[in-house]
Amino acid sequence: MSTPPRSAPLVMLGIESSCDDTAAAIVAASGDRGQILSSVVMGQSALHADFGGVVPEIAARAHAERVDLCVEQALEQAGMDLSDLSGIAVTAGPGLIGGVLSGVMCAKGIAAVTGLPLVGVNHLAGHALTPRLTDGLGFPYLMLLVSGGHCQFLIAGDAVTFTRLGGTIDDAPGEAFDKTAKLLGLPLPGGPSVEAEARKGDPARFAFPRPLLDREGCDMSFSGLKTALLRARDQLVASHGGTLTAQDRADLCAAFQDAVRDVLVAKSRRAIARYMALTPAEPAFAVAGGVAANGAIRAGLERLCAREGLRFLAPPLALCTDNAAMIAWAGIERLGRGLVDGLDLSARPRWPLDDQAAPLLGTGRRGAKA
Ligand code: KG4
Ligand code: ZN
Repeated sequence: MSTPPRSAPLVMLGIESSCDDTAAAIVAASGDRGQILSSVVMGQSALHADFGGVVPEIAARAHAERVDLCVEQALEQAGMDLSDLSGIAVTAGPGLIGGVLSGVMCAKGIAAVTGLPLVGVNHLAGHALTPRLTDGLGFPYLMLLVSGGHCQFLIAGDAVTFTRLGGTIDDAPGEAFDKTAKLLGLPLPGGPSVEAEARKGDPARFAFPRPLLDREGCDMSFSGLKTALLRARDQLVASHGGTLTAQDRADLCAAFQDAVRDVLVAKSRRAIARYMALTPAEPAFAVAGGVAANGAIRAGLERLCAREGLRFLAPPLALCTDNAAMIAWAGIERLGRGLVDGLDLSARPRWPLDDQAAPLLGTGRRGAKA
């Protein structure tokens, strides 16, 4: 009796265009994880720099102009053509609708011409499944998704089942980092510039609030921090005759970053308690999203996990921020389960990962948070 031929590993094209990065990547399934064959990210920071934030119309136009080029480059860098692919995965939401549409239209065009399966991916699922792409992490794991538009604790039960334990009720931490940078005249995106300043600063100089720590549960709030920072900045400016010194700026950044870290660590402790009640065989806590690139925040979370006995995973920096490899991987997970979309796939500005959870309050600069 001959054994049936083993099916070839899935090779997926991923496309991402939900915010201000146009990206395409090729990922192949490799055992329990993914192998990134190429990953192209075309950022738009320069286009939005003069406006102090992402301008949806400018973002949409840039995505429309660049998405085809990104796909071509991703194929070229992987040494592949469309006939080598098993399918096309595309971010179908949540995000800025003009950008999401550019990616979805591009993916549909390729699917229509090649007949390859089309897989619509939730951008947040892309971030949340990244530790499986990089490390083959087993379910269930606890996830802190923390970016410019989102902040939530999720239990990833399987590749399509996510339970939200809590999240921000107003600003996302990345948004707070960006606003802090703007208030202090630092370049955007704010995260890396505030982190660099914070390294030179004294966090103890300002006592910024740690909001909602007195409230039960895993919900968080970051908008009060920004107000506290604004007040401290204005007092310094008034006392220094209209300017901030370099040390003032560094100290403000350090105090702000410590406050964000403390809130994330304290709420993570509560999320861990709820997750551990599931008695996972190999407890793991993973962090993803742009703010996971922050060294101080990562270190705080890592120490917490060491104390609580959980494995801690943080993806490499390039996979923390928006990219298409995570979308290709989430597509592999869906395609592997037979989850395929038709050419009527629609772009969704809102798309909660856990549609059983109560909607979060507040809207960020990227619209209402999922
Ligand atoms: O995940 P991401 O690329 O985009 C989405 O928001 O979906 O995250 C971008 C956000 C920005 O707000 C940026 O300021 C923040 O992540 N960020 C950081 C750092 N690097 C990027 N925040 C804190 N520290 C960093 N090193
Ligand atoms: Zn993102």
